[in-house]
This record gives sequence, structure tokens and C-alpha cells, in this order.
Amino acid sequence: MLNLLGTREPEIYGSTTLADIKKAVTARAKAVGLQVVFRQSNHEGELVNWVQEASKKASGVIINAAAYTHTSVALLDSLRALNKPIIEVHLSNPYQRERYRRHSYISEVATGVICGLRDNSYLLAVDALTKLIKAKSK
Ligand code: DQA
Repeated sequence: MLNLLGTREPEIYGSTTLADIKKAVTARAKAVGLQVVFRQSNHEGELVNWVQEASKKASGVIINAAAYTHTSVALLDSLRALNKPIIEVHLSNPYQRERYRRHSYISEVATGVICGLRDNSYLLAVDALTKLIKAKSK
């Protein structure tokens, strides 16, 4: 449901829209010489397909799996098969919230996790992924 950012629980997620985040992420990636494919879907299977696509075409993945973070073994399995750096991001800090948000399937395979910094979580994730990719190609 990240498509609803801007209007969905702004006291938790902030008032920035997904389009704003896409713009900022694309600009940050361009500045560090990375090309970004920025996608959102409410469908679990589509996310799995995109992870599989990334395993062929991408150098790494930044993922906010939203509520699927806490439920999706399918996404976990697809990410485990990726064999590329993975940065898990969240706008909110799930550890300050309901108990059921404190477990993340994605964290089992994430290289790193950035949460609680609202849209800045994504920008920090771009910086982190850039360093990991550059370190790998040395
Ligand atoms: C979220 C946290 C999840 O618990 C929640 O289901 C979301 C957004 C975040 O970015 O803070 O949809 O991933």
C-alpha cells in the first residue's frame, strides 16, 4: 500500500508521496552513477517476479516490502536466491510499533536494514548500496 503514501497515516509515514520518493531516489542514484528501476505493487507475486528479474539484470536491490515484510516467505525465498546486496528499508521504525511488525522475513537475507527515517531511509539505502556495489567491483 505504499502507493497511498502522502495520505496514509501521515503521522507515521510522513506526507511525502511515493512519486516524491521516486524523484529523490532517482536523483541521488544519478549523482552516484547508478541507474534505478523504481517499482511499486500491492501484489506479492509481482514483487517475487521483480526480484527474479533483478537477479538477472540488477547489481542489487533496495526493498520496502511493506506489510509483506512480516508475512511473506515467498519474498524471502526469492530474495535468498538473488545473491546480490539487499537493503531493506522502512519509513517507520517497526520496532516502536505493534508486536507483529517486529519480525521481518526480509531481514533474514538483507545485507543491511534502514528504518525509521521516513523518506531519508531510501536515500541512505542508495548510498549504502552504492558502496556495496563499488566494493564488489574492485
Ligand atoms: C512499512 C512498515 C510496515 O510494517 C507496514 O506494513 C508498511 C510500511 C514502512 O515503510 O514503515 O506498509 O514497511
